[in-house]
Amino acid sequence: MKKILVTGGSGYIGSHTVVELQNAGYKVIVVDNLSNSSIDAIAGIERITGIKPHFENLDCLDYVGMDHLFSKYEGIDAIIHFAASKAVGESVEKPVLYYRNNVNGLMNILDLMPIHGVKRILFSSSCTVYGQPDALPVDETAPTKPATSPYGNTKQVCEEIIRDVINSGCCCMQSIILRYFNPIGAHPSAEIGELPHGVPTNLVPYITQTAIGLRDKLSVYGDDYNTPDGSCIRDYINVVDLAKAHVFAVNRMLNGTQDQPLEYFNIGTGKGLSVFELIHAFEIATGIKLPYEVVARRKGDIEKVWANPERANKILGWKAEVSIEETLMSSWKWEQKINENRKA
Ligand code: UD1
Repeated sequence: MKKILVTGGSGYIGSHTVVELQNAGYKVIVVDNLSNSSIDAIAGIERITGIKPHFENLDCLDYVGMDHLFSKYEGIDAIIHFAASKAVGESVEKPVLYYRNNVNGLMNILDLMPIHGVKRILFSSSCTVYGQPDALPVDETAPTKPATSPYGNTKQVCEEIIRDVINSGCCCMQSIILRYFNPIGAHPSAEIGELPHGVPTNLVPYITQTAIGLRDKLSVYGDDYNTPDGSCIRDYINVVDLAKAHVFAVNRMLNGTQDQPLEYFNIGTGKGLSVFELIHAFEIATGIKLPYEVVARRKGDIEKVWANPERANKILGWKAEVSIEETLMSSWKWEQKINENRKA
């Protein structure tokens, strides 16, 4: 059984990926310091798959601890590195925290990989590296643009570090970088999902918290953009679809079918939806009318971005499948589930 180390494996995208890896027959070791996730996610993974992944409560910044972990689970076939801080606004206020967590965590892993004979790393990146693309849909050959936040810059810097390590030719290392568009939704079982800390900054958790009555109304950040209805456009990708892309990428790394030692893939649907369209889709899917008001633009927001996912479709053999209605329904089901726990 091939062994995959998943850092940040109890987090939002990490936990869904662990489920898909276990369903595909991989043995999974989760490393997470639970700074932005709950141990309940591990129980949720077990309820869905019938398998409890190995879990280590550890910070990737702890070099000695990580060294011991690599020794304990000798023979790791690949690493998926999710563990990182991801709140754009917080990164503006606490840049050092973001550079330390996101860059140093990766550096420790890249340092330890050759020491322990681990050759493959899949890195969790973001479409934020493209900024506002010159052409849409954006493909992987588009240039990266100056980041608009320290968070965005950490993704660019981490991509560059990986590129330099692979180019050094050291130890036959291989990497795949997945650039996610906007992940939303939850597992259809409602056993795992996103757990926002405090007031959500992302659109869908804010929508579901408004629908359940935790928030009075949703603020739509601007209706004067150069888009058909004036609101921003994003490519919303179902989190289970996104998780499956990791399994395709890991298979490719392990099969020895990578054309290049470093490959990039956009993981999106290829379809852009505006904020108003998303609100409407939520109302249709759930039958709930959503109170909202249009407010000023949010600083740093990109006007419109959606993926050209053809490379992932053709080369990885992966494709987004779940409809937006089904995805929003899964978010709603998850919100109802966590609301029960809030009351308990
Ligand atoms: C941002 C980051 C992205 C990161 C993601 C993870 C940038 C440019 N984008 O995505 O890289 O991976 O967060 O957290 O750094 N909106 C509202 N009202 C709200 C919340 C959002 O109208 O209450 C709108 C936003 O203006 C945006 C859309 O909804 O147009 C999506 O926003 P959000 O969910 O925060 O994601 P991004 O900003 O696209």
